[in-house]
Amino acid sequence: MKSPVTVTVTGAAGQIGYALLFRIASGDMLGKDQPVILNLLEITPAMGALEGVAMELNDCAFPLLQGLNPTDDAERAFDKCDYGLLVGAMPRKQGMERKDLLSANGGIFGPQGKALNKGASRDVKVLVVGNPANTNALIASANAPDLDPSCFNAMMRLDHNRAISQLAEKTGAATTDISGVTIWGNHSSTQFPDLYHAKVGGAEALSKIDEEWYKDDFIPTVQQRGAAIIKARGASSAASAASAAIDHMRNWALGTEGSEWVSMAVPADGSYGIEPGIMFGYPCTCANGKYEIVQGLDLNDFAKEKIAATEAELREERAAVEHLLS
Ligand code: NAI
Repeated sequence: MKSPVTVTVTGAAGQIGYALLFRIASGDMLGKDQPVILNLLEITPAMGALEGVAMELNDCAFPLLQGLNPTDDAERAFDKCDYGLLVGAMPRKQGMERKDLLSANGGIFGPQGKALNKGASRDVKVLVVGNPANTNALIASANAPDLDPSCFNAMMRLDHNRAISQLAEKTGAATTDISGVTIWGNHSSTQFPDLYHAKVGGAEALSKIDEEWYKDDFIPTVQQRGAAIIKARGASSAASAASAAIDHMRNWALGTEGSEWVSMAVPADGSYGIEPGIMFGYPCTCANGKYEIVQGLDLNDFAKEKIAATEAELREERAAVEHLLS
């Protein structure tokens, strides 16, 4: 058996936390041979609820769960952290401007970045799920100057999985027959779900669907799926978000398969003309615990225009939190 790794989950008493923790502890994320210590961070008023979640985790008697530390202290939560899932965030309240929301989240992700900088493993993998995820990840990374920016990702995987599922349903294929899907840019309604390189059972996806359905139906459906879930369920996506977080971390830690890529928001590095300074959704492969941006994909004018729009939104978000980045 391997030695245990420390996994920190913030917002652990929330909806996503409840769907996430049991799967981490059962080995879905890091493998059935990887024991874990779970550090669970919550705000003080939620510590009672978190205690209940911790009781349930204990009641599962998971063989891989070798430690469980609920806390409201970020420094304790991130001490020796190997994997961080930053789920807890400030939700938008009525009348709140996007700028205020970004700043309010800066008050959470700035201090958490500092706590990671102080205590986490130097090759920690941090996945930001809490919205606005890309810019929250940027804030956390900027506040952790001793950690390489590549330690920080934001989650595009739910959008990626939604795109696969929509395409599978339309073409009658299995989800496992679909490859080459990318969600570019921001985890928001400006994201660009790209099927120009996608394959269905080895054939070009766009030979199986018409372009009108792709542009007028598929793209808005994927972009607006979060709102559709809220309308139907009366609450935001939780189990599917948790499942996407598990998928993202598993691929990052254990690798992607063959030439298949997944969508991850990572620090922009100039690839595809996106200059550094934002966390951008890209097609990525992973091996040996590192991600790599897939290079050399041709982008047509439609794709370039959509990518420019989502980049512009991320630059605006960045400008609104500039004061939190130094
Ligand atoms: P929730 O409201 O059920 O849970 C959030 C939890 O975070 C609460 O228990 C709250 O007490 C906690 N929290 C707030 N501030 C905290 C802090 N400073 N430290 C630690 N914990 C803190 O929300 P839910 O449904 O679990 O969603 C969490 C976040 O994930 C939201 O921001 C949501 O918008 C986002 N989300 C992101 C998705 C993505 O694809 N990137 C998909 C779905 C949700």
